[in-house]
Amino acid sequence: MKSMLENIRREALDALGQAALPENVEALRVKYLGKKGELTAILKQMGKLSAEERPVMGQLANKVRGEIEQAIASAAAAAEERRLDLQLKQEALDVTVPGRSMTIGHKHPMYTVLDEIKDIFIGMGFRILDGPEIELAEYNFTKLNTDEGHPAREWSDTFYFTEDSSILLRTQTSPMQIRAMETYPLPLRVIAPGRVYRKDEVDATHSPMFHQIEGLVVDKGITMGDLKGTLNTVVEKLYGAGTKTRFRPHHFPFTEPSCEMDVQCHECGGVGCRVCKGEGWIEMLGAGMVHPKVLEGCGIDSSVYSGWAFGIGLERTALRRFNISDLRLIFENDVRFLTQF
Ligand code: DAH
Repeated sequence: MKSMLENIRREALDALGQAALPENVEALRVKYLGKKGELTAILKQMGKLSAEERPVMGQLANKVRGEIEQAIASAAAAAEERRLDLQLKQEALDVTVPGRSMTIGHKHPMYTVLDEIKDIFIGMGFRILDGPEIELAEYNFTKLNTDEGHPAREWSDTFYFTEDSSILLRTQTSPMQIRAMETYPLPLRVIAPGRVYRKDEVDATHSPMFHQIEGLVVDKGITMGDLKGTLNTVVEKLYGAGTKTRFRPHHFPFTEPSCEMDVQCHECGGVGCRVCKGEGWIEMLGAGMVHPKVLEGCGIDSSVYSGWAFGIGLERTALRRFNISDLRLIFENDVRFLTQF
């Protein structure tokens, strides 16, 4: 029995010395010390020994057991360390590899201009309104003094949803004038930016979808002088102090009188150049005094209240502002173009 114990000890310690992985160590623990293990099997035979031999063998067996336990503990620790080393090596990060650079986006040039314009009007006490792009013909035309039969209502120019031409994609932001007057109490000072739609082919100056900003002021005693003063202030803030404007008579169904406002060419200062096509002026927006019929249609007494309105094309304003020659660049979202602004 003594030699059996010695053999087990030698074998076990040898094997443990070579166990590389934690699972190898565990297998050896089961092999020697487990319930059906080799040492356990010998200890079970202790009963067969004589009374003199039993304590001697017992002591030896305990000593062998202790040694194997200790060897298992240190083999397990070493194996665990080796496993950890291996894992660390496999998962190692090379912190010297150059990083993948992230490109951070920025505001689209058109929204830069929109935000500038919004800021200017907010500074003058205007409220910003948002409204539906799918609109009633009633709001887009009729209530804007554009009755059925008016050429602007032709199917060839407008995207209609219904056979009876009652629902459409708004062709202008002007219906927001009606919605503002019907929704909010007077006095009113609002701008309403947003998308508008017309059946136009895409080219350097046209797109079936584009943006406008509508402006509306209604109060007692409002005159054309207020319109000119306000728009002049906006133009100077947008294009620099001293920038001149010019108001020309025009016609819109929903304003009377109506006008178009030109801005002195930023490129040549009014002398005439390629940018302004020799004119010295560039057309910027349509405006006018709100037609009394439009006010009355919204339940506003036109003998007490008056107002002015304007509509400005946002893309054209942005193109001019950044000296961009083709409208399509605004919508194509090519980052090589967009990152220039
Ligand atoms: N809605 C007009 C257009 O799309 C622009 C316009 C002109 C708006 C005069 C106005 C205005 O508010 O008073 O051509």
